[in-house]
Amino acid sequence: MTDHELKSLLEGMTLEEKVGQLVQCNAGNFISNSMGITGPDGEALPAEEMNRVLGSVLTFENAEQAKALQEKHLAADRNRIPLLLMMDVIHGLRTTYPIPLAMGCGFDDALTAECADMARREASACGVHVTFNPMVDTARDARWGRIMETYSEEPMINGRMGAAIVKITQGKNLADPENIACCVKHYAAYGAPEAGRDYNAVEMSERQLRESYLPAYKACVDAGARLIMPSFNALNGIPSVANQWLMNQVLRKEWGFDGVVISDYDAVGELVTQGVAADAKDAARLAMEAGCDIDMVKNIYYEHLAELVREGIVTEEALNAAVMRVLRLKNELGLFENPYHGASEEKEKAVYLCPAHRETARRAAEETAVLLKNEGVLPFRKDVKRIALIGPFAESRQLNGFWSRPGAEQYTVTLPEGIRNLLPEAELVTEKGCGADLGDMDRGGIEAAVRAAKEADAVILAIGEPEYDSGEGRSRSDVTLPGVQMELAERVIAANPNTAVLLFNGRPLAVPELSRIAPALLEMWYPGTEAGNACARLLWGDANPCGKLSVGLPYSVGQYPMPYNRTNTGRPKPGPDGQPVPFTSCYLDGPNLPLYSFGYGLSYTRFEYEKLETDRDSIGREDCLQVSVTLRNAGERRGKETVQLYLRDRVASVVRPIQQLIDYQKVELAPGERTTVRFRVTEKQLRFWNFACREVSEPGEFEISCGWADHLLLTRRFELK
Ligand code: GLC
Repeated sequence: MTDHELKSLLEGMTLEEKVGQLVQCNAGNFISNSMGITGPDGEALPAEEMNRVLGSVLTFENAEQAKALQEKHLAADRNRIPLLLMMDVIHGLRTTYPIPLAMGCGFDDALTAECADMARREASACGVHVTFNPMVDTARDARWGRIMETYSEEPMINGRMGAAIVKITQGKNLADPENIACCVKHYAAYGAPEAGRDYNAVEMSERQLRESYLPAYKACVDAGARLIMPSFNALNGIPSVANQWLMNQVLRKEWGFDGVVISDYDAVGELVTQGVAADAKDAARLAMEAGCDIDMVKNIYYEHLAELVREGIVTEEALNAAVMRVLRLKNELGLFENPYHGASEEKEKAVYLCPAHRETARRAAEETAVLLKNEGVLPFRKDVKRIALIGPFAESRQLNGFWSRPGAEQYTVTLPEGIRNLLPEAELVTEKGCGADLGDMDRGGIEAAVRAAKEADAVILAIGEPEYDSGEGRSRSDVTLPGVQMELAERVIAANPNTAVLLFNGRPLAVPELSRIAPALLEMWYPGTEAGNACARLLWGDANPCGKLSVGLPYSVGQYPMPYNRTNTGRPKPGPDGQPVPFTSCYLDGPNLPLYSFGYGLSYTRFEYEKLETDRDSIGREDCLQVSVTLRNAGERRGKETVQLYLRDRVASVVRPIQQLIDYQKVELAPGERTTVRFRVTEKQLRFWNFACREVSEPGEFEISCGWADHLLLTRRFELK
């Protein structure tokens, strides 16, 4: 339709029909829905009555349901305005890819985009029009369970990966039935709740917000995301969905966002609970005044918006503007001409879990695993005769992580399946040893596990945190291994030193003791559908680990928040970490540094950084600094290495990080091969938000380094004139 036709359509709509476009229901109100719900359930909504005017639905199962929902609605809607069908496709639909935090450890924007592209193919076949993805919240506290859903503690990584996902998911033309619209979330600073507890308040300076939390959302808006979702949390006292500064001033005026704003699950209604709205009608007013277009899943707008407009409290102009944004999105998706978009049972059969998607899922699982420690144990020898596979994840299918689609576990390749695929001749013994649930103190299986370890040539210890102990509403006040898994690890490793530990977790875990005793330690996160094949190939060397931590791993929960890009303080602790130094910034009972730092990750080969050079000693505002890093694969195996470029602004009007990642490139080198990786550094990358909340760069001396956080290898100085 043309915009003129849309405007005519709007003019012909009743007030109730306009309001309906801003209402979203759970599809479960209309169909029996095993997809469950993604928030607190509430009273059943008057589905049939609402269906006449409804604007969108959330979460359904497949193309057949998508078509049925659309048909049912179009038959009831006088204006025959198609529904928007929305879903959380975060890391895959039927094929599950590694969790986003794992993808961040891949430091490979193209690989992240490849996974998103395949998820798009499956989601569009399923009938999805909008995915609530990417989530790019900066997260620096592992107590917050949704840290698994973002890519990194570094907003630049979240922005680069989020933008890549938006571009490949939306494609060039949203009307192409294989493309779907992205809803970037959760705007803003949802990842910084007080005490790391989900949904809790966020208090931070505008400067910190603009420096470390807003950039990733902006990168996705600039990449063309057609929707954005305000976050549940109050931000500096005002919940995002009612926060006019955040939504009108920053999002609409400064960033020029012209897409649709959709609330999070009942976040409009929760304005009453938060204590900023006197009642549901007041909540509807506040959300509309802040420019929230769609009320997700509850009927606050449905019940109160028309009345607010009749009373002149909400202007018809504001209502029309919100409705037009929704109608334009539907039009961009081509829904008026093709209300079913990409829904196709035939396509579902063709693309779900197809070989190409599985291959990408396996490769992603391999490339996002982080080898934390390896004292000559890995890779295991292929001529191994007897393998003991021990731990609560030894035979688990729960290796997909939160936000995998319900039922994903039935498709997971388990560890035994992956090992047998690779080594059909080897004898494989499995013992659970113990559980992984919080509070599961049952030690009854440990002796059998120890016996299995003693009798094996190689031992794999598969431990971690249950996949639903991270994710939404899954905060923890402690981030150690649950239950008696450490006891199991101590006994098994003592029984057989040829043991490799696989960690399956969504949040960073504090595992200093495990790190001390494990001969080899591989962080697998939740690797998704191809978990077993990827783990086997990594353990036996068919794949060479190349992941780098996109978030530091803590010694203890007491260190949080623990951003890698910390400032120096006036009393930095000198010398090696660990021992307190009086009158310096340190702890009496533990180290300052993480157990494993941001950017760290080992390989089965070894990379030597030989040179870091710059093409000049100073640059002006219009110049760019050419930086080259020369490195060599000094080992015996082909491998990939993420070359990381860190910046330090030596003197500025505000304190600046001692190390700030400003770029990264991943390269693959054969044994003995040498390469030079080139970076361009411009004045834009030297900018920061100053005390007056202006984005500036300031003349002076800078340092550029390669290596990884807390372990910068080579450094050169240059000046900004
Ligand atoms: C949930 C989540 C959000 C998700 C939405 C729809 O509460 O906060 O990330 O997209 O509801 O499922």
